[in-house]
Amino acid sequence: MSDPTAGGLENLLSEDRRFPPSAEFVAQANATADLYAWANADRPAFWAEQARELISWSTPFEQTLDWSQAPVARWFADGTLNAAYNAVDRHVEAGRGDRVALHFEGEAGDTRTITYADLQREVSKTANALASLGVGTGDRVAIYLPLIPEAVFTMLACARIGAPHSVVFGGFSAEALHSRILDAEAKVVVTADGGFRRGAPSALKPAVDEALDKGAPSVQHVLVVQRTQQEVSWTEGRDVWWSDVVDPASDQHTPVDVEAEHPLFILYTSGTTGKPKGIFHTTGGYLTQAAYTHLNVFDLKPETDVYWCTADIGWITGHTYVVYGPLVNGATQVIYEGTPDTPHRGRWWEIIAKYGVTILYTAPTAIRTCMKWGEEIPAQFDLSSLRVLGSVGEPINPEAWMWYRRVIGGDKAPIVDTWWQTETGAIMISPLPGVTETKPGSAQVPLPGVAADVVDDEAHSVPNGSGGYLVLTEPWPAMLRGIWGDQQRYKDTYWSRFQNLYFAGDGAKKDDDGDIWLLGRVDDVMNVSGHRLSTTEIESALVSHPWVAEAAVVGANDETTGQAVVAFVILRGDAGASQTPADEVQAELRNHVAKEIGPIAKPRQVLVVQELPKTRSGKIMRRLLRDVAEHRQVGDATTLADSSVMDLIAQGLSTPQSD
Ligand code: PRX
Repeated sequence: MSDPTAGGLENLLSEDRRFPPSAEFVAQANATADLYAWANADRPAFWAEQARELISWSTPFEQTLDWSQAPVARWFADGTLNAAYNAVDRHVEAGRGDRVALHFEGEAGDTRTITYADLQREVSKTANALASLGVGTGDRVAIYLPLIPEAVFTMLACARIGAPHSVVFGGFSAEALHSRILDAEAKVVVTADGGFRRGAPSALKPAVDEALDKGAPSVQHVLVVQRTQQEVSWTEGRDVWWSDVVDPASDQHTPVDVEAEHPLFILYTSGTTGKPKGIFHTTGGYLTQAAYTHLNVFDLKPETDVYWCTADIGWITGHTYVVYGPLVNGATQVIYEGTPDTPHRGRWWEIIAKYGVTILYTAPTAIRTCMKWGEEIPAQFDLSSLRVLGSVGEPINPEAWMWYRRVIGGDKAPIVDTWWQTETGAIMISPLPGVTETKPGSAQVPLPGVAADVVDDEAHSVPNGSGGYLVLTEPWPAMLRGIWGDQQRYKDTYWSRFQNLYFAGDGAKKDDDGDIWLLGRVDDVMNVSGHRLSTTEIESALVSHPWVAEAAVVGANDETTGQAVVAFVILRGDAGASQTPADEVQAELRNHVAKEIGPIAKPRQVLVVQELPKTRSGKIMRRLLRDVAEHRQVGDATTLADSSVMDLIAQGLSTPQSD
C-alpha cells in the first residue's frame, strides 16, 4: 500500500481561492445549512425522513436501520416498494405524464423525445417482453447496450419485475462480458447490433456471441435491439429481435412489490485482484440516497431544470445519476449516445445550447480534454442556461476546476466536486451548492447524513493539515450490501483494514479548515479517465499472451486522463517475440490487453525489461516502477532482493508513444 501522505501535497493546502454561493443562488437553493445539524442529531431518523418524503412505499416501513449483522446493513427492511414505479408510474399518476423524461440525442443526429407517459409504456412493454422470455423476480439480466433509450427501458423493466440487472459497459471485451455473465448467472442478455461511435457503427452482438460460445449455461435468450442495421449472426431459438417481442408486447404491466432489501442491481468493478467484484445494491436505501443526493447536490428543480449527466449507463454514475436519481425525482434530462468530438469538438456545447441544459455533471478528464482543445470552441455556443456544474470520478485539479467555472459556468455556476464509489452507490462527499463556499480541487465535506473521516495507520482521526486514509464511519442507505456470491471478500476488502470502519481505498487529506481533499487510490487500483482499472487484471491479461513471461502494471500521471496504464513486461526467450521488431511487440501487447479487457485498459506504453524489481518475498515493488514511468528519480530501493535491477531497467528502456 502506498503512503498517501507522501510527495508534493503541500501545495493543496495553500489553495486560498474561495467561491461563496451567490445571494440569488442561496435564496432559491433546495439544501440549507441546517441539514447538517439535523442529520447529525439523529442520522437514521434523518434518512428515514428522506425515505418517506422522496420515495413512494407500497408498505410503509417501521424499521429504519438494522446494523446487527454488520457490515451488512438493512435499511427500511420491513417496507416494500418498486423502483420503476418510483421512477416512472407515480409521475404519470400525479398528472406529470407529459413532462419530458428523456431528450435522446443519437450520435448521428437522430433524436427522440420521451415523456414520462411514453416511458411508462416503453418500460411496461419491455417488462412484458422480458417476462415472456422467462425472466422472473430474482432472475439476473445482463445488459450490454450503447447509451440509447432502450438501455434505460431495460434497466427499469428489470426493476419492475424485481430482476436484478447487471449492466456491462459496451466498451468491455467478450472476455470481460463472459466472466460477468457467468458470475451473475444471467438468464437473458440484452444487447444491440451495435452503436454509433466516432461517426461509424461499431458492433456489439459479436462480442455477445463470442462470450456465449465460451459457455454460459444460465443464458436462455439474447434480446437484440436494432440500432445500426449491421449484419449479425443469429442463433435460432436463443436470439430474439427487440422489434419482434417488445414492440408487440402489451403496454400494461403491474410493477412487482419487493422488499426494501431486494437486490436492484449488480455492477462489476475492478478490485485489487484480477477478478472483478460484483457490487450489489438493494432497493429502498439505494433509491432514497440516489434521490436525496440528486435533489440536493444538484439543486434540482424538476419543473424547470434540464439535467445532463454525461456518464454511460455502464458505470455507477450512469445508474445513480442517469437512471435512478433523476427519474425518481421526475427530472427532464438529456442522454447522448456518442463522443464529445463527433462530428466536431463543440458537440457537447451544442447539445447544451440546443436543450437549454441547466445542470451538467461530468468527469475531470473530459474537462481537461476540452481545455486542450481550446476555449474558443465552447465560446461559440450559448451556455448561459447552465446554473450548476458537477464533477466526478477522479480528483479535479484546481486549473481544470477554474477553467470549468470560468469557461463553461460563466464564472457564476457553482461547482460540486462529488466523491463517491460504485460501492457507496451515491454521492458521499460534496459541497452543497447553496451552502458551501467552494474551493478549487477539494470535495470538501461529507453530505448531511454521511459520516467520513481521514485516519492514520492505527485508525486514529488525523488532525487538520494532515493526510491519511479515507474511511466512512457510519452505515449509509445506499451502501453496497456485499459482493455477489462472495461475502467474505466483501468483509476482507472493505472492513478488515480498520475495525468497524469502511475502508474506501483512497488517500485523503484534511486542510486547515477540515475540508477533505482526495489524493487518489492507495491500493492496486488505477483511475484512468475516471474509470477504475485493476493493475492485477491487466497483468493477467498480459501474461495470457504467449510472448509474455511476467508483467507489472502501474498507473502513471497523465495530463488528460489523470492516470495512464504503463506496463513493464519480461518476454519469453523462446517465443515469437524475439524475431519481431520491438515496436510491433509493443503494439501487439497493447492490442492484446484491449481485446482481453477492453480499449479503456489499453496501456499507454509497454516497456520491455529484463527484470522486475521484487522484494525478497517476491512482491513486485510498483512504487519504483511508477517512478520510472513518471520519469522521476527512483526512490528507496533498499528492500529489493537484487538492487541492481532498477539500473538494468533504466538502461534498457525505450519509451514509444501511444496512439
Ligand atoms: O478513487 C476514487 C475516485 O474513483 C473511485 C471510485 O471509482 P468508481 O467506483 O468507478 O466510481 C466512480 C464514480 C463515482 C474512488 O475510490 N473518485 C471518484 N470521485 C472522485 C474520486 N476521486 C477524487 N475526487 C472525486 N470527486
